[in-house]
Amino acid sequence: MSKLAPPPALRLGVNIDHVATIRNARGGAHPDPVRAVLLAIASGADGITAHLREDRRHIRDDDMTRLKAAIGATPLNFEMAATEQMLDIALKIKPHAACLVPEKRTERTTEGGLDVLGGHNHLVPFASELGRAGIRVSLFIEPALEAVEAARTIGAPVVELHAGAWCEAVIGGNLTRAAHELERIRLAARRARELGIECHAGHGLTYDTARVIAAIPEIVELNIGHFLVGEAVFVGLEQVVRTMRAAMDEGRAAA
Ligand code: PXP
Repeated sequence: MSKLAPPPALRLGVNIDHVATIRNARGGAHPDPVRAVLLAIASGADGITAHLREDRRHIRDDDMTRLKAAIGATPLNFEMAATEQMLDIALKIKPHAACLVPEKRTERTTEGGLDVLGGHNHLVPFASELGRAGIRVSLFIEPALEAVEAARTIGAPVVELHAGAWCEAVIGGNLTRAAHELERIRLAARRARELGIECHAGHGLTYDTARVIAAIPEIVELNIGHFLVGEAVFVGLEQVVRTMRAAMDEGRAAA
């Protein structure tokens, strides 16, 4: 009797941006995102994500430098807009991965995926320069088949599917919308695998949604930030990372 191969492991990338948000609220040095990084790694994070925004509203340039120095062999995923300034910084920091994201000054958080269809020509040189420097390029895209296909023509080895619309539908109790959005994620993840693109997901995930999305076998990494930092206020970062890890493992076991 033939046995199905188990799904690949599911990595947890902890996004520590909002530790910096809290620090910046008072303008001092506490809480230090680098301390959060070390604790997250000790508690089961497989990688660390940080987004250096143009307005430096949370992570700052020296955070990225300190983070890279402190993180050791753990992969650092540098979220960045496709701008010359960010490219220069990424080439200096040399993170394991760079996730290209859209950025608008007025948004509270990354509201949607990259315009990989309309912005194709703009993105190609960024993806190739980062790739040439040995940085694994990921594109943060909407969970849509045409976006995955466009990502391939841009030459990115990785896509991260924006899970925000699905998570919002779940939190809002809109079951029909949630089912539709989850199906879009499933189909996009499947298409990514068919095209040989590694598939990640992120934005808005909680224990409950991480458990569900973990069952999609083509997704091999989840990047989670706001919920983890928010929950850490109540139970501490170590506990939160451990509980998230357990939720993901539980969901994966159902794949
Ligand atoms: N992935 C990407 C590309 C993001 O831009 C963000 C938000 O910065 C996240 C994951 C994490 O989202 P959240 O903070 O909602 O967990």
